[in-house]
Amino acid sequence: MSSQYIPVPPFDYVVFGATGDLTRRKLIPALYYRFRDGQFDERSRIIGVSRSKWDDKKMREVARKSVEDFVDKDFLDKEVVERFVSCFYYVPNDVTNEKGWAELDGKLRDDKDIVRAFYLAVAPNLFAPISNYLTKKCYCHKDARVVLEKPLGHDLASSIEINDAVGAAFSEDQVYRIDHYLGKETVQNLLALRFANTMFEPIWNAAHIDHVQITVAESVGAGTRGYYDDSGALRDMIQNHILQLLCLVAMEPPASDDANALRDEKLKVLRALKPVVGDDLRRNSVRGQYRGVRSGSVEVASYQDELPDDKKGSHTETFVAIKAEVENWRWAGVPFYIRTGKRLATRMSEIVIQFSQIPHSMFTRAQGAPQANKLVIRLQPDEGVKLFMMIKDPGPGGMRLREVNLNLSFAEEFEQRTPDAYERLLLDIIRGNQTLFMRRDELEAAWKWVDPIRQAWDEAPEPPQPYTAGTWGPTGSIALIERDGRTWHEESDY
Ligand code: BG6
Repeated sequence: MSSQYIPVPPFDYVVFGATGDLTRRKLIPALYYRFRDGQFDERSRIIGVSRSKWDDKKMREVARKSVEDFVDKDFLDKEVVERFVSCFYYVPNDVTNEKGWAELDGKLRDDKDIVRAFYLAVAPNLFAPISNYLTKKCYCHKDARVVLEKPLGHDLASSIEINDAVGAAFSEDQVYRIDHYLGKETVQNLLALRFANTMFEPIWNAAHIDHVQITVAESVGAGTRGYYDDSGALRDMIQNHILQLLCLVAMEPPASDDANALRDEKLKVLRALKPVVGDDLRRNSVRGQYRGVRSGSVEVASYQDELPDDKKGSHTETFVAIKAEVENWRWAGVPFYIRTGKRLATRMSEIVIQFSQIPHSMFTRAQGAPQANKLVIRLQPDEGVKLFMMIKDPGPGGMRLREVNLNLSFAEEFEQRTPDAYERLLLDIIRGNQTLFMRRDELEAAWKWVDPIRQAWDEAPEPPQPYTAGTWGPTGSIALIERDGRTWHEESDY
């Protein structure tokens, strides 16, 4: 298979929050890979903005270091790196103050053939002042784009506030809300799998699917990220990434690949989610928090140990499992078990479509019990898709059933680097393609579902269930699914 690199028009990418971690770890390396493949050239510029008193030279040094630190060595080419860093510029600006904006104005090119994008990699309380100044200073001509990074609010009310402030400066078709999970290669493959093949769609419903599992497991802890304790796993992972994955699994086929056609279908799923409140909340949700572990010379700190003194005793959850239901014709009675957590046994994200059992087995017990088919879509690591099915055990020995998987490991099959989600998303913004970005109504529908859960947990006197670092979460999460006669898909099954 050969990749196709279609160049994008030249751009001025203004990155607010240029001195931050996201810019160094994700944005600069992603842009480097796209530059290296010739998707844009030195006519494009990346203009960092932040309060620090840096200049172009310092910004270029940081860009060079970021490429050296976060780009795979096999892709480093000195000459390309130098050409790439020459695209970087810097403007110091305290965005809450009127004064610093003139210099940015001077740097931007007033040429309608150059796409102008403002990337807000800053705390959400700065979205309003930045949008406000951008409007006042007329930086956002009608073709400009604004990119918002999460957290996009901490509940429905605050997300409405942010959307209103940004909406006063930019129309909805100029706003790109990033959920980087949507840029992951396998997530887009889910669309191809469902809608470019005939075999799955006829059985993609309650008549043939027993249940769905979505797991986003991380082995890292919450660490010292100050933001995490105010957020918790529900806001950090469920409200955005996991609900977006659920939407792509559950939505009806969009009529076209038009951004709004797809987002309309996702919105319908979000609106059909059964509220998890009252008894449902008690029965169908579990929250946990990791405790430390010592094994031999290895010691892992508990979440509490990682917290600063003034936060000790926090009830913030580092693990969530929920049995969700989509109340519509296609999915009636099909549970969606979703879970995510920090300090779990391994780093692994996957979607499991568990098909129903065959209605009747013609095989004897000695020949083996047919296992229900299962489609596993692995996002990371080892991106790929596996279809588990029954076959006859090859060779002599009579009829004996055996479960095998049809394995489509992308890494092995296509022998090429899997691009990082940001590579796709950053250039989609320049292309003006909003398909992989959340629309305002989607974001608000997701908060509407999450808010009552958050509120009930905030009011609950009891702490989250403890779980030991390096395990699969609290026992309550196992009980949540096993009570229904089902089990979580095991890592070793993959
Ligand atoms: C981010 C969360 O959105 O996603 C982090 O804020 C999390 O807490 C990260 O670690 C996971 O992303 P990925 O791509 O590494 O699975």
